[in-house]
Amino acid sequence: MLIAGNWKMFKGPAEAGEFCRALRDVDLPSVVDVVVCPPYVSLAASVQALAGTEIGVFAQNCHWEDQGAFTGEVSAPMLQELGVYGTLIGHSERRQLFGETDATVARRVHACLEAGLHVIACVGETDEERDKGATHAVLRRQVAAFEPDENLVIAYEPVWAIGTGKTATPQMAQEAHETIKELIDVPMLYGGSVKPDNAAELMAQPAIDGALVGGASLEIDSFAAICRAAIPS
Ligand code: PGA
Repeated sequence: MLIAGNWKMFKGPAEAGEFCRALRDVDLPSVVDVVVCPPYVSLAASVQALAGTEIGVFAQNCHWEDQGAFTGEVSAPMLQELGVYGTLIGHSERRQLFGETDATVARRVHACLEAGLHVIACVGETDEERDKGATHAVLRRQVAAFEPDENLVIAYEPVWAIGTGKTATPQMAQEAHETIKELIDVPMLYGGSVKPDNAAELMAQPAIDGALVGGASLEIDSFAAICRAAIPS
């Protein structure tokens, strides 16, 4: 089981350091892998605060080139120099608000894995796509951009469930995960309004290997409760 906290554009360096120092003191289940994904500027403080622990620090995005004229981008070697362990790629907010496409997501995923970073690649349908009955076609198209890799994890995050409080039912999530696992055999996280009170039921689905948590990862208590809910029974 893997629980990853996506902090999005929250927590500057001071707050991130404070959160990570507090997280060190929480009794997290040893059978659950825990990861936090702070904004770029807070990566160094987070890596420092979590040094010597099993908690990994991931970025939220990463470019495919090592360096060059790509204003605003950050590369895998730069992240690795900081001690960052992996990165999210293709989060729906990147796709919807910042023009990320299946093609750019594929380039980023490929380059990051080549560089030795772990990658959580995100996929998921919008509510319009679900209403049209296109969910499985969309997932197949998005997943076709990836190749299996031991350092690749896929996060299924239905766009209509992100930050809305509307969670996919465990059955819906299980079905989507099964569709994806038929195409690529890698661990899969569910994301979209995962909270302490729905985490255990979602994590109990056989095709769900963990969670990508947004809002509920910003508070220690709710994040720790989700990590505990992920202990396999
Ligand atoms: P949420 O976000 O848990 O706030 O819905 C999930 C995500 O965007 O990764």
